[in-house]
Amino acid sequence: MFILSDSTPLPFYKQLYNQIREKILAGSLAPDQKLPSVRDLAAELSTSRNTVDAAYQELYSEGFIYSRERSGYFVSPLERGFASALPYPSPRRSHPGKPDQLRYDFHPARLAPGTFPVAQWRNCYLEALRDCADSLTTYTEPQGDLELRTNLREYLERSRGVICDEGQIIITSGLQHGLELLCRMMQDRRPSVALEEPGYHLPRAVFANNGYHLHKVATHPSGIDIDHLRSSGSGIVYVTPSHQLPLGHVMPVANRLKLIEWAQTGDNLILEDDYDSELRYHGKPISSLQGLRPDGNIVYLGTFSKVLSPTLRLSYMVLPRPLLPAYRAHFGNYFSTVPLLEQRCMAKFMEQGYWERHVRRMRTLYQQKHDLLLAAIGREFGADGVVLGADAGLHVVLRLVSENPGEAEILHRAKGSGMRLVPFSQMCAGDPPADTHLLLGFGGLLPERIDEGVALLRTLCKGR
Ligand SMILES: Cc1ncc(COP(=O)(O)O)c(C=O)c1O
Repeated sequence: MFILSDSTPLPFYKQLYNQIREKILAGSLAPDQKLPSVRDLAAELSTSRNTVDAAYQELYSEGFIYSRERSGYFVSPLERGFASALPYPSPRRSHPGKPDQLRYDFHPARLAPGTFPVAQWRNCYLEALRDCADSLTTYTEPQGDLELRTNLREYLERSRGVICDEGQIIITSGLQHGLELLCRMMQDRRPSVALEEPGYHLPRAVFANNGYHLHKVATHPSGIDIDHLRSSGSGIVYVTPSHQLPLGHVMPVANRLKLIEWAQTGDNLILEDDYDSELRYHGKPISSLQGLRPDGNIVYLGTFSKVLSPTLRLSYMVLPRPLLPAYRAHFGNYFSTVPLLEQRCMAKFMEQGYWERHVRRMRTLYQQKHDLLLAAIGREFGADGVVLGADAGLHVVLRLVSENPGEAEILHRAKGSGMRLVPFSQMCAGDPPADTHLLLGFGGLLPERIDEGVALLRTLCKGR
């Protein structure tokens, strides 16, 4: 029996989710027990089917329940000890006696706690273990598991219009690892790379460590400034054209074509980081640069970190054919740095349709948080704040346009108030903009804390 109450601030779907989850963890809903249909439970609780469906979807995405075609939802068999190992304890049991130290985590690279699809991953992992038991005593494909590269090729073509063959795909352990390999492959070019300003800060260190000269090139709502890029004299550019980090701009097609032209005519190279393209909430999907010119001088970089897990360290890049000889010359004798079991598990996760289902679920979940965040900012900041880069990804930028104490003081106040903010100025190689900009990630925030987090942020931004 479940009870939905008006007297708590938790939405109905969350109350229902919590109660079912508790029963599964306590064992009072037995493994493989069938749950009532969405319609029956909605009728029993006098609530909408959407409420029950949202609760079931969240339980499903976290692996607490599974579905059987045309039969409905069933309780997943959880291993002993699973409950205590859960990364996301229910609020009632969280840190007894300890104050909640990080109530509002606005870190832009946090995923929603508890969303890793544990049950499906475990099934795929066990299958992978059975399948590749013989391969575990040998070294494997340096470029990465062929099954994973094949599934990736199909997925990238379907979802991002990327056209390539498996031989062009390299499985890497993260963006920085991919860039390290590229730095070596590009060493017969001028060691000079252009980076968006403001832009993602982590690639800077990789290029600098490899002796590259860094040029910061201004970025506008229409993308990187191509005239400025030309005048920088760089032969390589690192860009995030589908969701500029941090400002969130989407480079329009006309400028994409200009950038591609820049690469083609000068034998220059574009490093296209398409890190969070799965998370687009409003507006039409945009094709990748690589998809616009598959035979162009474009390296396409992608990751499983933004939707599945950043700790898997599972990313990939698609090399243009002319770069393959350099790859083979430098790395033909290197072994893959990503464990075979993880790669094969991911391949199965994709093959069995779990990946695309997970993407859809995460898109819905993050869109809810995104919409809640925007509504809260609108209410609290009104005309004192301008939101940049909405409608995609896991963060927005809030530009403060009225009197405020500045980034350093706001961050200092936040730290003492149980709030984590990552400085926007970290994304600037030069001087940050005159107006205070706040980087607000929402992936790791609990939906029920968004309103109070933004209200608190508003108070931290007052005064001087
Ligand atoms: C711009 C950008 N690229 C790539 C990534 C992911 O990198 P990795 O594949 O190393 O986890 C992130 C993560 O936050 C990012 O912000």
